[in-house]
Amino acid sequence: MTVILDGKKLRDELLDGLKGKLSNYVNAPKLVVILVGDNPASKIYVNNKKKTAEKLGINSVILNYPSDISEEELVRKINELNQDMSVNAILVQLPLPQHINKNTIINAISPIKDVDGFTPENSGKLLAGETPYVYPCTPKGILLLLDKYGIEIEGKHVVIVGRSNIVGKPLAVMMLNRNATVTVCHSRTKKLSEITKSADILISAVGRNIISADMVSGGTVVIDVGIYKDENGKTRGDVDFENVATKASYISPVPGGVGPMTIASLMLNTVELFDFQNKRSCD
Ligand code: GUN
Repeated sequence: MTVILDGKKLRDELLDGLKGKLSNYVNAPKLVVILVGDNPASKIYVNNKKKTAEKLGINSVILNYPSDISEEELVRKINELNQDMSVNAILVQLPLPQHINKNTIINAISPIKDVDGFTPENSGKLLAGETPYVYPCTPKGILLLLDKYGIEIEGKHVVIVGRSNIVGKPLAVMMLNRNATVTVCHSRTKKLSEITKSADILISAVGRNIISADMVSGGTVVIDVGIYKDENGKTRGDVDFENVATKASYISPVPGGVGPMTIASLMLNTVELFDFQNKRSCD
């Protein structure tokens, strides 16, 4: 029988725990989210983050700048937030407009306030097998979900489809650090379905319907990171859920799988950064 990996249920458990922990805090952590322009999907994501934070007792502010803000101005704003002792966590919602170099912006964030774990210091620590201040939210959420269901990672062939800096690359490193054998596939990969069929754990993070049932072997653990609206406005993932579910041992749905886990991880990361900064100022 196929088990559905319930991201909503685990999110609720994790956030309940975090709410209890925060109820004992004298000061609330503060997360600042920077949104540039008016990308409708980004607006929804950012508002969800703020709503979730507020329910827990985390202060959350969205700074919405016009899409023609200059790179220099955005760096200046981030520097102000880096200096502001009341701000514990900074997230710059991606994608950014074309004229802004995203690496310049990410590099400007203080590594101890980098709630995505995207700065060179945090991604470098991850690659070196050291502990970063925080782990990137989506990969962290995926590992929490696999661990919750007791799915073993060590020695398994993990196939990741998608090589983004947000999901594919950090996830590959985190899986390697957990002693998986990792294959990362992308748009230029040849014989994709031969590789996906050899997966023990198949994770797709592409953003279009790419994984059909004939690409999946029986008993595979399937994780769907993709989320987009189809032509009828229905929310869909990368995986043909109905047909793949009959073959998979475990499968994450869209919505209700990885998405809620990403938000939960963001909240966990915000509190981890807050705790670290407070501890450091006491030492
Ligand atoms: N856009 C899509 N996913 C993410 C994420 O995890 N972090 C940021 N900053 N932007 C995103």
